[in-house]
Amino acid sequence: MTERKDDRLWGGRFERAPNEQFDAFQRSFAFDRRLLPYELAVDRAWAKALQGVGILEATEAKQILAALDKIAERSKTDKAWLDASGAEDVHHFVEKALVEELGALGWKLHTGRSRNELVATDFRLFVIDATADVQHGLEALLNAFLLQAKANLSVPMAGMTHMQHAQPILLSHFLLAHAEAFTRDITRLQHAAASADACPMGSGALAGNSFMIDRNAIARELGFSRITANSLDAVSDRDFALDYLFALSGIATHLSRLAEDSVIFASQEFSYVILPDEFSTGSSLMPQKKNPDAWELIRGKTGRINGALIGLLTTLKGLPSGYQRDLQEDKEALFGSHDQVVEMAWVAMGAVTATKFNADRLRAAASNPALFATDAADYLVRRGVPFRQAHDLVGKVLHEAERQGKPWTQLSLADVQKISPLFEKDFLEGPSVENAIATKIVPGGTAPEAVRAAIANLERRLNKLTVKTGAKP
Ligand code: ARG
Repeated sequence: MTERKDDRLWGGRFERAPNEQFDAFQRSFAFDRRLLPYELAVDRAWAKALQGVGILEATEAKQILAALDKIAERSKTDKAWLDASGAEDVHHFVEKALVEELGALGWKLHTGRSRNELVATDFRLFVIDATADVQHGLEALLNAFLLQAKANLSVPMAGMTHMQHAQPILLSHFLLAHAEAFTRDITRLQHAAASADACPMGSGALAGNSFMIDRNAIARELGFSRITANSLDAVSDRDFALDYLFALSGIATHLSRLAEDSVIFASQEFSYVILPDEFSTGSSLMPQKKNPDAWELIRGKTGRINGALIGLLTTLKGLPSGYQRDLQEDKEALFGSHDQVVEMAWVAMGAVTATKFNADRLRAAASNPALFATDAADYLVRRGVPFRQAHDLVGKVLHEAERQGKPWTQLSLADVQKISPLFEKDFLEGPSVENAIATKIVPGGTAPEAVRAAIANLERRLNKLTVKTGAKP
């Protein structure tokens, strides 16, 4: 049979054409055309597999492979061709193009396979590549933090809890804290890539394949390291997309914390950072304004990234086993989240690199002796006082200083000895921002040696990072 009443993928048992509005509603080509390079890669592997089991003659397989190459080529250069296509989805697009090229032979490629496994396979390949793109962005961001951390090793700042000044830390330590969070995001990206890394082809619509197709060969050819274990699960499973969206939400959430810190630090009240012109905007009304829009947009976009994760979780909730058309909803939000996070990471990298720190302001805030109060309690602990009592006695010292209207380090020895005879001259002379920082020498602490070691450690981990490659068609 070479005559068909239309070029749809499924018209045979229907009497009437679809309602026009519904037809537009159910189409996905406008967004799933993004999967075309993966679809074509899967088609190539499938043509070879069909040849392997004798469904295609060697010459037929050769013709199909050549036509697929031609389609790949034209799709790269002729965007109008895609725009004008009446295809229902990316799978339909390729079949139509194949038939235009090869006539009835083009219809042979879909032997023994279903769009249900195709879309799952294409989407997994997309997610694997996407994780690699985002990882590269995060690696660039980590390098930006490393550069700033190395350049600011002598700058102390007031570390905060509850947004209240707490203890002095090095600015580099603060920067590395952000960096550490992004290293965990890379682990989550790699986890998402690993969960996408299984090939569904050969699962059919749900039941498997009756032509004894070589599933392992197809998986290998596509760069997958394994095949999916159950055909029904393979067409229903979108966990890999959830894992990826969760990884993206983690990244966006960490970027939003960095954004919030930056917005606050750029405010006149803090003036810890000088916003880079290249990553700021002005006001149409107020000539003096320089606004931290790069950071605000990063913070704001986090909302839709988190929304996409909740959106897909909600779509999947309560779906029965097997492919359901609901699953078509998996793609748009994930594509959008991916694009946004790639941009967010690169903009953050640029803004971190270009940010100048106001070392004088940072040091001044960190040098307030109130921030050494914990070290003052430690002074008594080293003289055998139980910590809770030491805390209390230092509280009394601070209270007395407040009463006299001066920093506690400027009280007289007599004043503090009235509170505890264990206080000696060095209690009032020893404290300094440098000492407070230098004593935090444990691994992971803020002492300069510990921070230098942390920088070296992060550089080592960064150099050892790998990404899953081979999926990119
Ligand atoms: N456009 C569909 C999707 O994105 C492809 C699979 C369609 N399968 C089907 N049985 N209608 O999920």
